[in-house]
Amino acid sequence: MLRIVICGANGKMGKVIYNCLASRDNFEVIGGIDIDTNSYADFQIVKSANELPETPDVIIDYSHPNSLNDLLSYAKSMHTPLVLATTGYDNEQIAFVKKASSIVPIFFSWNMSLGINLLLSLSKKAASVLGDDFDIEIVEKHHNQKLDAPSGTALMLADAINDTDKPYRYEYDRHSKRGKRPNNEIGIHSVRGGTIVGEHEVLFAGRDEIISLKHIANSKEIFAVGSINAAAFLVKQENGLYTMDELVS
Ligand SMILES: NC(=O)c1ccc[n+]([C@@H]2O[C@H](COP(=O)([O-])OP(=O)(O)OC[C@H]3O[C@@H](n4cnc5c(N)ncnc54)[C@H](O)[C@@H]3O)[C@@H](O)[C@H]2O)c1
Repeated sequence: MLRIVICGANGKMGKVIYNCLASRDNFEVIGGIDIDTNSYADFQIVKSANELPETPDVIIDYSHPNSLNDLLSYAKSMHTPLVLATTGYDNEQIAFVKKASSIVPIFFSWNMSLGINLLLSLSKKAASVLGDDFDIEIVEKHHNQKLDAPSGTALMLADAINDTDKPYRYEYDRHSKRGKRPNNEIGIHSVRGGTIVGEHEVLFAGRDEIISLKHIANSKEIFAVGSINAAAFLVKQENGLYTMDELVS
């Protein structure tokens, strides 16, 4: 039985994870962490990891970047593996995550879906085959409640494509510029509206042809299932930083 704490337990993803786990025999949610401590099930929700009544086998986090310090200090002191799915960390926070992973196993991915991780590797392959003759634009669409833009996944896609000798710069906004598109950039565009769960499209626009790679998430369950699989994988690992690459290989 894997004993799990959900950080961000009162959020949309926290509740989807709880519902996914409730139907599985070998997992138990033993607590939650959230600034909103109202509980909706048979576990307690506390404001900080230090207040947890029991030490879990693993914490799954879908909350807010502000929770990171609290989670990392608890995970390091209790040696509790951490699945970090929250998006919007700054570079300093990412450096803290990397450093902490030398003390405790950490799984970190801004997109927990298998399909998106396939899209990452297909985009990387397309960029290396198509080269400089194709302009690369990424369009992401999400619901109107999303706080960060562009999405963590759009940045993951750009970074995967950018893993080359000749780095691209990222262009987020062309409205204040007049001039032709340079070919050493990746345009990244965010659309926000309604209840869109998450769409990511990578366009490779060449002369007289366009290649489009696209993933559409129809429900948040795909992320929940990915992070539950990540939790089951992580508890068997040594200290270190793990991503979807290790999970799917
Ligand atoms: N990696 C992935 O695959 C993936 C998929 C979906 C969402 N996300 C990310 O997960 C996060 C949560 O998404 P959501 O849609 O559930 O958002 P949400 O706003 O519905 O839920 C966030 C929850 O975190 C709580 N919270 C805020 N600050 C906190 C803090 N300092 N400590 C503890 N709890 C805190 C809020 O009260 C809320 O209940 C976002 O960053 C989102 O982008 C990642």
